[in-house]
Amino acid sequence: MVNLLSDSPQKTKKIGEMFAKSYLKIQRKRNALVLGLRGDLGGGKTTFLQGFAKGLRIKDRILSPTFVILKKFSIPKSKNQRFQSFYHIDCYRISSLKEISNLGFKKIISNPKNIVAIEWAERILKILPKDTLLLKFCFVGLKKRKISCDIIKNKVNKSLIKNILKELALRAF
Ligand SMILES: Nc1ncnc2c1ncn2[C@@H]1O[C@H](COP(=O)(O)OP(=O)(O)O)[C@@H](O)[C@H]1O
Ligand SMILES: [Mg+2]
Repeated sequence: MVNLLSDSPQKTKKIGEMFAKSYLKIQRKRNALVLGLRGDLGGGKTTFLQGFAKGLRIKDRILSPTFVILKKFSIPKSKNQRFQSFYHIDCYRISSLKEISNLGFKKIISNPKNIVAIEWAERILKILPKDTLLLKFCFVGLKKRKISCDIIKNKVNKSLIKNILKELALRAF
């Protein structure tokens, strides 16, 4: 099991930023890149995604979408990647899968130009694509959080996410 420990929100953001940079190298041809985040409330999912968005060179602030389930951001163009939009979805407040499918979820996850990050992904496990990369965020102490690779249906993706985490674990933040 590969775990990353963070002892500050800044470090979690940095991990998110580095993660995005590695994540961008994954090339999918047929559908979106989907990242699922689950774990404790206050575990650092949104904080991680603030860094993640920075890694995609998005300047807008990523907030905990209290009343909004879905927010779309443009990814600035760059030479080596083909992604155009970043979707931040938070399933904390949804009461049925229908709420998500009504937002055009299928279309969003089938567009190879999209990167989709889903907080509380466990609430919509049924409709997540098989190749979703899942991360788990645990509350360890006041400022300590653990980020780990979660159960993934797809073996290739499991080793992929483990490799990214391993690579990050070797760096000093
Ligand atoms: N190491 C850490 N990593 C991330 N957040 C931390 C850390 N230590 C303290 N915090 C605080 O914990 C809270 C995490 O909240 P948030 O990222 O919104 O969690 P989630 O989206 O998982 O509910 C923030 O208030 C943040 O400042
Ligand atoms: Mg959150």
